[in-house]
Amino acid sequence: MRIQDATAADLPGILAIYNDAVLNTTAIWNETQVDLANRDAWLVERQAQGFPVLVASAAGEILGYATYGTWRSIEGFRHSVEHSVYVRRDQRGQGLGSLLLQTLIERAKAAELHVIVAAIESENLTSIRLHERLGFVITGQMPQVGRKFERWLDLTFMQLTLPEQRSSR
Ligand SMILES: CC(C)(COP(=O)(O)OP(=O)(O)OC[C@H]1O[C@@H](n2cnc3c(N)ncnc32)[C@H](O)[C@@H]1OP(=O)(O)O)[C@@H](O)C(=O)NCCC(=O)NCCS
Repeated sequence: MRIQDATAADLPGILAIYNDAVLNTTAIWNETQVDLANRDAWLVERQAQGFPVLVASAAGEILGYATYGTWRSIEGFRHSVEHSVYVRRDQRGQGLGSLLLQTLIERAKAAELHVIVAAIESENLTSIRLHERLGFVITGQMPQVGRKFERWLDLTFMQLTLPEQRSSR
């Protein structure tokens, strides 16, 4: 298994994981599946902005991915990013999510970012536990701000504050 920056060749694997999360989970609050062109545009945009899209793969198969991007587009938020991490259903619980997130944190440090924000559906205890283990703390709770599968969803905000960089602009 290796973790690398995503290329266009990885998009079918990313697409399958993304659409599985759309159809079967409250990890992402969309109910509409996307196509390859959508993920292609997303990858191009992320990379053009200098943000990482990491994939975990083995024997040519995509097992999971992690990325971060703009949290809020107002200038004052430029030192903060919001990330996401997804592991293929049959690969969960083996440490892959932790590995992807650890690698993403290293990228954020290298990019001299200050805060990584996680917005997690409040019943997603696996994700909350994973983030706590890597040093994230809960900083906000927003009841019933979302809706999927005909029920209200609560949002838990977590954040990891990275050491301040001397060059913070
Ligand atoms: C959340 C997710 C990325 C975690 O990836 P993973 O590879 O399964 O995670 P890991 O194996 O590295 O670690 C999972 C941790 O959660 C724990 N865990 C597993 N199932 C759990 C559950 N039902 N409740 C609480 N904790 C659980 C594991 O024990 C492990 O903790 P430990 O190492 O302290 O024992 C993965 O489950 C996933 O893709 N879920 C669907 C999408 C999603 O929710 N993404 C996050 C959106 S914010």
